[in-house]
Amino acid sequence: MNYNTIPSPCYVLDEVAFRKNLELIKSVKEHAGVEIILAFKAFAMWSVFPIVREYIPFSTASSLAEARLAFEEMGSKAHTYGTAYTDREFPEIVRCSSHITFNSLTQFEKLYPQTQFYNISCGLRINPEYSDVETDLYNPCAPGSRLGIVAGLLGDILPEGVEGLHFHTLCESNSYDLEKTLQVVDEKFGKYFDQIKWLNMGGGHLMTREGYDVEHLIKLLKDFKAKYPHLQLILEPGSAFAWKTGVLVSSVVDIVENKGIKTAMLDISFSCHMPDCLEMPYKPAIVGATDEVADKPTYRMGGNSCLAGDYLGSWSFDNELKVGDRIVFDDMIHYTMVKTTMFNGVTHPSIGIWTKDNEFKLLKEFGYEDFKGRMS
Ligand SMILES: Cc1ncc(COP(=O)(O)O)c(C=O)c1O
Repeated sequence: MNYNTIPSPCYVLDEVAFRKNLELIKSVKEHAGVEIILAFKAFAMWSVFPIVREYIPFSTASSLAEARLAFEEMGSKAHTYGTAYTDREFPEIVRCSSHITFNSLTQFEKLYPQTQFYNISCGLRINPEYSDVETDLYNPCAPGSRLGIVAGLLGDILPEGVEGLHFHTLCESNSYDLEKTLQVVDEKFGKYFDQIKWLNMGGGHLMTREGYDVEHLIKLLKDFKAKYPHLQLILEPGSAFAWKTGVLVSSVVDIVENKGIKTAMLDISFSCHMPDCLEMPYKPAIVGATDEVADKPTYRMGGNSCLAGDYLGSWSFDNELKVGDRIVFDDMIHYTMVKTTMFNGVTHPSIGIWTKDNEFKLLKEFGYEDFKGRMS
């Protein structure tokens, strides 16, 4: 990518890298004989859904808006799981979904009747109370979790109408984490498997990360399928689709100094445009920069909201930064565009694609009307 030809700020999807991920995911799906669908919560850049559809036709939605996006833009009905469906939104969710997973028995009992006149397969989210995820913010199995039904709350027989079970316990995990989870799920919920048609293993399967043991994943899924041949297995990763498929291009607007700390003030915000950096937290890679090195020009990166903590540090560069320099944050496509806010009215980065023909295409710009339109 020639970053200087890209307007700043801008999220830029790298089509070649994206297609590579899609290729791998499609090949896992085919070799393992499972369904793999795209979780919109991680990536919902609908202008490239025609590319996604060349490889993967289905998606998972976590809200009415995502279910509509599946139906209208992806061209297929959604596998929907929402934490708590409201009476107002549920009829429209029914219209846009092929599968609906309920988070609790009360939600299932209340809303299942509305699904009966449609060709919808209903399921329950289970909570195996086991997860390798260490950050509580991302751990759906932490004690007291509101997500999914724990084994003790289900009787011996699933309620009539339940055709599937769904668990989501992983986050940027490997196939060995899935293997351990599957053992627990099998021990605690295996007695229901002859009552259902499908098992959704949620997201968090980071099969496109370098070093992920894809062969092990395929074997694991095949072995599980051999044990329960009647079950359709579904995986709904999000991050894996968009992992390392593009950047957030930003620019230095000013440089300030306080007690010897130099901060490059950028035209983007960690809080508004890369929130996981502050929430996880983690330090993203900047193209051409390294972790702090003594004797090299070193800077904090400062976000353009007024939140005091909207900064991260520290990166070293070969040369002093100057106003106008491009700062390119790597791997900024998943859980970024879908999570942005317009806090402070800060300018929202544009969205573009670096195509396989090696050219930049601007897909969308945001302006005052987008900010104003979110309020009244
Ligand atoms: C229910 C469910 N499915 C799928 C996903 C996608 O997970 P990931 O993007 O980590 O693959 C999530 C993420 O939170 C989720 O909560």
